[in-house]
Amino acid sequence: MKPFWRDKTLIFLGIISMLFLVFKSCSYDNLEEYYSDVVCDTLNVSYSQTIKPILDRNCNGCHFAGNSSGIDLETHADVKASADNGSLLGSIKYEPGWSPMPKSGKMDDCTIAKIEKWVNNGTPND
Ligand code: HEC
Repeated sequence: MKPFWRDKTLIFLGIISMLFLVFKSCSYDNLEEYYSDVVCDTLNVSYSQTIKPILDRNCNGCHFAGNSSGIDLETHADVKASADNGSLLGSIKYEPGWSPMPKSGKMDDCTIAKIEKWVNNGTPND
């Protein structure tokens, strides 16, 4: 029998498994960056494209104009008022001193980060 390093099949399999390990570790590193930079995109945040759809989906079943809570989140002016008095971020981040919103469970970190970015940008009506 040939020594194993002369066996082309074994060498081939060895190279394949080394490549696999190298690529596996690379793709894992990239995936983490991918998640923070691309999946949670806080750079392209605007009221009309980002914030309003989030609020319509998660909040405006209750906070429609004229609802009993007294807080409307349907127009830019309404949302800006809640952002300016601190209640918007306080409530979605479940901070002490504010009613946690939505009550059914905190929104995911990325959604909260987008709203926070928009508030920090000065709540533009864009
Ligand atoms: C199931 C109905 C419901 C949903 C959904 C809901 N809210 Fe509310 N929210 C209320 C009610 C009722 C109040 C007033 C009573 C209270 O504070 O619990 C309120 C109060 C608030 C307040 C005032 C909090 C304070 O402490 O002064 C803010 C700000 C607010 N909501 C924002 C939101 C946002 C933003 C969302 C979506 C992410 C949301 N709410 C989702 C029913 C809801």
